[in-house]
Amino acid sequence: MHGHWSSRLAFILAVAGSAIGLGNIWKFPYIAGVNGGGAFVLVYLACVFVVGLPIMMAEVLIGRRGRRNPIATMLLLGEEESGSTRWALIGVLGVFAGFLILSYYSVIAGWAIAYILEGASGAFANIDAAGVGEIFSSLSGDWLKTSFWHSLFMLMTLVVVSKGVERGLERAVRILMPALVALLLLLLGYSMIAGDFAAGLRFMFEPKFSELTQAGALSALGHAFFTLSVGMGAVMAYGAYLPSETSIMKTSIAVVCADTAIAILAGLVIFPIVFANGLDPATGPGLIFQSLPLAFGQLPGGIVIAVLFFLLLTFAAWTSAISLMEPAVAWLIEARDISRRRAAWMIGGTIWVLGFFSVWSFNILADFKIFGRTVFDNLDFLTSNIMLPLGGLAIVVFAGWVMCRNSSSDELDPEAGAGYRAWRFSARYIAPVAVVLIFLNAIGLI
Ligand code: PFF
Repeated sequence: MHGHWSSRLAFILAVAGSAIGLGNIWKFPYIAGVNGGGAFVLVYLACVFVVGLPIMMAEVLIGRRGRRNPIATMLLLGEEESGSTRWALIGVLGVFAGFLILSYYSVIAGWAIAYILEGASGAFANIDAAGVGEIFSSLSGDWLKTSFWHSLFMLMTLVVVSKGVERGLERAVRILMPALVALLLLLLGYSMIAGDFAAGLRFMFEPKFSELTQAGALSALGHAFFTLSVGMGAVMAYGAYLPSETSIMKTSIAVVCADTAIAILAGLVIFPIVFANGLDPATGPGLIFQSLPLAFGQLPGGIVIAVLFFLLLTFAAWTSAISLMEPAVAWLIEARDISRRRAAWMIGGTIWVLGFFSVWSFNILADFKIFGRTVFDNLDFLTSNIMLPLGGLAIVVFAGWVMCRNSSSDELDPEAGAGYRAWRFSARYIAPVAVVLIFLNAIGLI
């Protein structure tokens, strides 16, 4: 039996908790930096609103209609709407993507936990750019330490998932998200005063299309999926608990706007610090870990702020990680008829083991490259840039073309008003065409 969210707000908070995570604060600034800033940010924003939003709505509506785990939902609706069981493959792909994403996500979340202690030790006081580099490489380069933090984070995720989504999540997100935003705003104040704010703004918002490669455009698309948690059934799994009277359109718009605002805010905090301290915006996955401590080191009360920041980042990663695991666990429970606890331990254990490849990508396997990328980079590339966009494409084609109009309007807007028509047009034409074009562009066909 599926539970229900206690209110519309609770559902928004849960989906926002899934969407807002390392993707916004760690990954967005780092990949915007690697891909040259402005033009990347513009393509990312367009992808979020033009592609991501209609796909999020499609996922929620499918989830609520099926009221099962993503695989069972796609199986049921696929049969109902088209007589084919193949649509269940979308669910399978999604469950698998969640597995792979969580395996490396947990490693980065582990770094965030380690930085709570680093901050508390006072190591950031008056630190300079060379000092932050040292702290970062001595953590990421030490596979034993990072294995420990990765294991701790997986355990934290497992514990919540084994208790069930409804009980674990709501309370946490309600308090922690606003606190995270408040802290980012405080750091924004610091960046405006002490950072090179003008350079940060220029970097983020002055589009230089000559700097955006085809691979960069694909990353922008992939990141739109990653940051919104769409394309793999996580939002679909949450939609299964959504009361039927809640407006899918309004809640999706609220989540997408909140998620985007937080990513932009993170960029506005980080890039001015990067430029004022002569750091390289294209540093890669260590970017926030090497820029923010400079701010903490100079702020009055910096120790407390650093601890709070990495604590909240860990919580944000936690609520996302829970949603990465939920589709697989929900599936295992229903398919094998086992307890939630057992399912959570089985899935969590497997992901934990897989995670070691990402732990090692920053130390003992740093030189082991396939297609010129480390295991970590390959996992990220495969999931964000390929699996999520493909999953999202299939979901939106299903909702726009395969589901009959009555089924989708039933969920979205029984009166089939302008909002519904706009969604349906995006779901049938704009979103699929955009995904296909960016793919074709990335492989050099256009
Ligand atoms: N959206 C999360 C973030 O930005 O950190 C990551 C994520 C969660 C991706 C859940 C996909 C997902 F299904």
